[in-house]
Amino acid sequence: MDSAVRNNNSGWWDGSVGYEIYIRSFADSNGDGVGDLPGIIEKLDYLSWLGVDLVWVTPFYPSPMADFGYDVSDYCGVDPLFGTLEDFDELIEEAHRRELRVIIDLVPNHSSSEHPWFLSSRTSIDDEFRGYYHWRDPAPGGGPPNNWVSHFGGSAWTLDKQSGQYYLHLFLPEQPDLNWNNPRVIKEFDEILKFWLARDVDGFRIDVAQGLVKNMLMPDNPLRFPIRDDMSPRQVFAAFDHRYDLDQGGNLEIFRRWRTLVEPHNSLLLGEVYLRDNDPNRVSRYVSSGDALHRAFYFAPMHVPWDPQSMWDTFRDALNAAPEDLSWALSSHDDPRAPSRFGGGQEGKQRSLAYSTLLFFLPGLPFIYQGDELGLPNIELDQEDLADPVATRNAVETDGRDGARSPIPWRNDPEFGFTTGTPWIPMGGRSYEDTAEYQQEAESSWLMSYKQLLETRKDHLDPTAPLQWVTARDSDVIGFRRGGTISALNVGVDDSDLPLPEGEWELVFQVGEVAIGTGVLAFGVNSAAVLVLASQ
Ligand code: GLC
Repeated sequence: MDSAVRNNNSGWWDGSVGYEIYIRSFADSNGDGVGDLPGIIEKLDYLSWLGVDLVWVTPFYPSPMADFGYDVSDYCGVDPLFGTLEDFDELIEEAHRRELRVIIDLVPNHSSSEHPWFLSSRTSIDDEFRGYYHWRDPAPGGGPPNNWVSHFGGSAWTLDKQSGQYYLHLFLPEQPDLNWNNPRVIKEFDEILKFWLARDVDGFRIDVAQGLVKNMLMPDNPLRFPIRDDMSPRQVFAAFDHRYDLDQGGNLEIFRRWRTLVEPHNSLLLGEVYLRDNDPNRVSRYVSSGDALHRAFYFAPMHVPWDPQSMWDTFRDALNAAPEDLSWALSSHDDPRAPSRFGGGQEGKQRSLAYSTLLFFLPGLPFIYQGDELGLPNIELDQEDLADPVATRNAVETDGRDGARSPIPWRNDPEFGFTTGTPWIPMGGRSYEDTAEYQQEAESSWLMSYKQLLETRKDHLDPTAPLQWVTARDSDVIGFRRGGTISALNVGVDDSDLPLPEGEWELVFQVGEVAIGTGVLAFGVNSAAVLVLASQ
C-alpha cells in the first residue's frame, strides 16, 4: 500500500491490528505461576500466525506489585519475576524478525512509593526530590488538602506522619503521583523514553495519559451528584467533575515534547485517555492537532450496551470527533471481557465476534485483548482468590478487575499449559474447548474466525479510505463503507435487512446467519458481515 500521508498522525500503524499482552497471565516459562518475557517469546509464532501486527506489553519493570506492575520502582529495568533486560532485547529481536512490532507500557502519572525518588522525597521537606511529587500541608483545621478521591477508593491523599504533610495519589497510596510541573520530572522521562527507544521499541502505550498535569492550586473538584456509602470506588470517582485533577491542557505539551523524541525512531505514541463520560471531543484533543499523540484509546465501545441506538451514537460521535486516530478494543485487563458483557454463553461469544467485525473495520487502530480471540468470558473468583486491590481493599463489594485477568488456556496440560506451577490467579474453570491448541485444530472456532477476520481486513481494507455510514440511526443494522468494503452488524432483536449501495458486492466474511440477495443483505440476530465490491 502506498503510504500516502493522510494526516500528521499517519505511520506504519495505519493498517495494523494490535494485541494487548497482560504479561502476568499470558505465558509462564519458568513455573513460578506468573507470565514472563521468555513466555511471550515462545508465543510469537502464535501471534504471527493469528495475524496481528503489533503487541502492547503491560509493565514488566521492577515493582513491588501493589498494582501488579503499574507501580514502577525502576523505569529502566526488568523485574526478575518477568525476566531480564537481555530477555527484553531478545523479545524485540525475535518480534522484529517476524515483522511484529512491540510497544511498551509507560507509567508516567505515578511511580511506586518504593521508587528511589519517592523514598528520598519522603525523608524531609527539604529533600531535593520532594518536588518530584505533590506534597501539601493539611487543610486548615486538618484533614486532606482537598476533596480529590482515588480511582481505587478513598481520599487521593495520604498523610506522612514524619513530615506532617500529605502526598497525592490518584490510585493506591503505593502509587504517588509525579509532579509534571517540575522540569526535572520532565527531563527524567526524556531519558526514560530515550533508554527504551535505543532498545528499539516501536512505541509506547501511555498509562493514565489524561492525568499527568494537575492544577497546581489544587481546588476542590465540584461534586456532580451526592455520594452514598454503598457506592463503588468507580462510582464515587464518577460523582466528581474532575476539573482540576484530570485532562489539564498541559498534558498535550508533554506529548508534543515526546513526539519530537519518538519521531526520528518512527515510534508510536498511543495514549490511554480515560475520561469521564468518554466525551469524544475531549479525547480527540489528544490527537487532533497532529503533533501530540498518534492514537488515543477510546473506551466507550467497551461499555456500550447491546443496543442499536446506543452503539450508533457511540460510534458516530467518536468518529465525528476524531475520524481517523482512535484506538478501539473489545476488552482489556481493566474491563470485563466482551462475551460476559454481551450476555454470556454462546450468545455473548457470537456477539463479541460480530461486534469485532464492526470494530476492526473502523478507521484507527484496533486491539485484541489476549484471549478475545479464543472467545473467553470473564471468570468468577471466590472471595479468597481475589487479587486486585480495587476488590481487596474496599469494604463495599466492587467490580474488581480479576475476572478479566485469568491466564490464557494454551493446551491440554495441567493448568492448560500456562504454567508448570500454580497460576498466580485461578485459571477459572476453562475447558479444553477454550484452549488455543483445540481451537487451532477445530473446523470452526472463535480463534479461526478471528484469524479469518484479520486476514479479511488485511486483504481488503484500504486503511486510508474514509468512512461513510450506510445505515441510519433508527436502523437495527449498523454499517459503514470504506472504499470498496462494507462492514455491518445486526444489533436488533429480530432479523433485519441492509439495502446495499450500487455495485456488485461479494460476501467475504460473516458471523451468524447472513444471506446476500440482489441489492440487499439479510441478517439473522447477532450477525455481522464484511462485503467487498467486485472489481469492475
Ligand atoms: C491504567 C491501567 C491500570 C492501572 C492504572 C494505574 O488504567 O490500565 O491497570 O491500575 O492505570 O496505573
